[in-house]
Amino acid sequence: MINDLGIRSDVELMHGLDLREPRLVQEAILAVVRRLPGGVRVVVEVIGWPDYPSNEQVSRFLSAVYDALPPGSFLLTGNVLRSPRWLSWLQRLFIENVFRWMPMHYRTVSEFKGIVTGAGFLVLRESIDPNRGFVVVTAQK
Ligand SMILES: C[S@@+](CC[C@H](N)C(=O)[O-])C[C@H]1O[C@@H](n2cnc3c(N)ncnc32)[C@H](O)[C@@H]1O
Repeated sequence: MINDLGIRSDVELMHGLDLREPRLVQEAILAVVRRLPGGVRVVVEVIGWPDYPSNEQVSRFLSAVYDALPPGSFLLTGNVLRSPRWLSWLQRLFIENVFRWMPMHYRTVSEFKGIVTGAGFLVLRESIDPNRGFVVVTAQK
C-alpha cells in the first residue's frame, strides 16, 4: 500500500504506549506528526489489538487517532471475525480452552467497519483471510 501511494516508508514503532489511554495515544501521534513536513500523510497500523477491548474502548482509541492524524492519512486495522451462528460458541470454546488465548471480541465485518466509520474514517478496503478468521480494514481520514 505504501508503494502504491508513493508514501516514504519510514516506520516508527510506539513501544510502551497503553492503547487504552486515548489522550496518550493522541499525544504520541501528534509528537511524530509535528516532526514531519507539513501536508504529510501518515499510516497508523494497529492490527490485532482491537480484538481485546470493548467496542467503546476501540471507538475512543480510533477517535483519538482520527483527531491526531493529518487529513488524507491512513489507518490499517484488523479484528478477529465471528464465525457464523452455532459455530461461534465452538470457536470461542476452542480458542479459549484449547489454545488458552485471552478472551477476545469476535466481530462481524460490518460491526468492525461500523466502529471504524463511527470514529470518522472512510473505509477504502476490507481484506478477509481465506479461512474467514480475520479482517483487515484500510481506511482514510
Ligand atoms: C495480536 S497482537 C498483534 C500485534 C501486531 N499488530 C501484528 O499484527 O502482528 C496484539 C498486540 O497488542 C498488544 N497490546 C495488548 N494490550 C495492549 C495495550 N493496552 N496497549 C498497547 N498494546 C497492547 C500486545 O502486546 C500484542 O503485541
